[in-house]
Amino acid sequence: MMLVVFLGPPGSGKGTQAELLSRRFQLPSLSTGEMLRAAKESGSELGNSIQKQLDSGLLIDDETVIQLVVDCLNDPKCESGALLDGFPRTLAQALSLDEYLEGLNRSLDRVIQLRVPEPDLRSRLSERYLKLDRPRPEDRPEFIPKRLEIYEKITRPLVDYYSQRSLLAEIDGLGTEEEVFDRILECFPGGDSPSGLGKVAK
Ligand code: AP5
Ligand code: MG
Repeated sequence: MMLVVFLGPPGSGKGTQAELLSRRFQLPSLSTGEMLRAAKESGSELGNSIQKQLDSGLLIDDETVIQLVVDCLNDPKCESGALLDGFPRTLAQALSLDEYLEGLNRSLDRVIQLRVPEPDLRSRLSERYLKLDRPRPEDRPEFIPKRLEIYEKITRPLVDYYSQRSLLAEIDGLGTEEEVFDRILECFPGGDSPSGLGKVAK
């Protein structure tokens, strides 16, 4: 059983690295951003109610997001663990996750904090906005400062929260995707073959 959280500002590479680790450890990667975008695309009641916030890069309410994650974690596909990309992002979410895991006698194994300087974050997000056929609305240049501010004010305090619990691994998020991934693998006992931490694919 392995549970890993990816923490970092927009554009720091959470999704990219969670996917790489997901393939390596054969564990599902749960991205709350992807789940919320899927809800929006589906035109469901939830999707419609969150569209405005999502499109401008504002956080969705804790209750909604917690419910989405708990539903996923309860799924048998998460029996061996999961990689959480973009959750938790608020202290309330972190506390709910801890409470949920305590109830199952489980706990987090690691929190990977990706550190990337702000100018690089800005250029990654604006490049993505120009690159995609269907760009993400929140990547529009006018929303980027607010997204970075929300991270600093609301999500960054989780760095201390997890550091105090000795779960935090600070990773330099600059360099190629592979270079960053190699740094992440060093955080796991046994390098890329974590003992008893899920199946390992080469
Ligand atoms: P989410 O989808 O999580 O977006 P985000 O946090 O803004 O993060 P990004 O996906 O933009 O960046 P990332 O860190 O995943 O980096 P990525 O790998 O994509 O959330 C979307 C929205 O959903 C939120 O704004 C909010 O509204 C809502 N939401 C989600 N979770 C929530 C929660 N828990 N509570 C409340 N609301 C929530 O990479 C970014 C770019 O950089 C890509 O183009 C990539 O190719 C490139 N890149 C990656 N690695 C490198 C590298 N090493 N070098 C150069 N470029 C790189
Ligand atoms: Mg992402």
